[in-house]
Amino acid sequence: MSDEMDDFPELDALMRAEKKHDWMSEPRFKRMFDEIEDGLQGVLGKGRYEWVDRRVFDQVFDRSTLLAVHKLMQKGKIETIDYPIARGKEAHVFHATTNHGPVAVKIFHTTNAVFKGLAKYIDGDPRFSGLSRRHRELVNIWVRKELRNLKRMRKHGLRVPEPIDSLKNVLVMEYIGDDRGASPRLKDITIDKPYEVFEDLLEFVAINWQTCELVHADFSEYNILWLDGEPWIIDVGQSVTRQHPSSEEFLIRDVTRLVDWINRQGHSVDLAESLARVLDDPVPSLPSLSGGD
Ligand SMILES: Nc1ncnc2c1ncn2[C@@H]1O[C@H](COP(=O)(O)OP(=O)(O)O)[C@@H](O)[C@H]1O
Ligand SMILES: [Mg+2]
Repeated sequence: MSDEMDDFPELDALMRAEKKHDWMSEPRFKRMFDEIEDGLQGVLGKGRYEWVDRRVFDQVFDRSTLLAVHKLMQKGKIETIDYPIARGKEAHVFHATTNHGPVAVKIFHTTNAVFKGLAKYIDGDPRFSGLSRRHRELVNIWVRKELRNLKRMRKHGLRVPEPIDSLKNVLVMEYIGDDRGASPRLKDITIDKPYEVFEDLLEFVAINWQTCELVHADFSEYNILWLDGEPWIIDVGQSVTRQHPSSEEFLIRDVTRLVDWINRQGHSVDLAESLARVLDDPVPSLPSLSGGD
């Protein structure tokens, strides 16, 4: 259990005790904030909070998040957080920099009603039973779940970002993109040979099911990035193991979305046949990628 419980208990007490915004002047947070301010220049902007108003900054970088970012900076996992790549309802994703190059930092919002609907992906997964359902902890578990799912997929050679570290609601992973920016989503581009990509993606779903014993559970052209002619699957926080009572339902939904996508590209692929391939076709065993375990 201890690897699941890397919380800061004193922090929760502080959060309850303090009035909103007063915390930044509290000496230990002031010191911490001074220390990480340089690393946050990019998102603070020249005129501070330029990219977004103060309210949204506070929503993303609440004190618990700043503490987590600070710790990841001390560990050398993040040097600077540069600019937002994507701003979603559940998470912001940032381009960040380390000694070794760029990384993506996904910061989950801890004050979001969306998470109330997420319990169904965690209840029933034996790896996460017995933990508190408190909201903040749920978010933290979600992040560790995304990290572990990435590791498991990388172990079996699947093209997902290499997980680097996570702490609380902050996930650090390989950046999918180049100097010009983050890679586009499959949704945003037209590709030359969609059927080949369909085959590749169906194989992903099959290996994920048969070998990793996981279902992505939000497989769609929104969660596939396109880099150097290859699809990269992202956003695996909601992925569940095959033991999950709804795993087959999620699998069918994933395959349905994939088949709908290829059929919108002018093909006429059969759903039942695709599903049968995922379940029964022998899958190749791919060499592990770095970061898998
Ligand atoms: N590793 C990454 N490298 C580059 N861009 C990323 C990465 N992960 C996510 N993104 C970008 O951030 C967006 C949101 O990330 P995602 O994991 O799908 O979170 P959400 O739960 O908000 O959908 C993606 O659509 C993609 O544009
Ligand atoms: Mg997504």
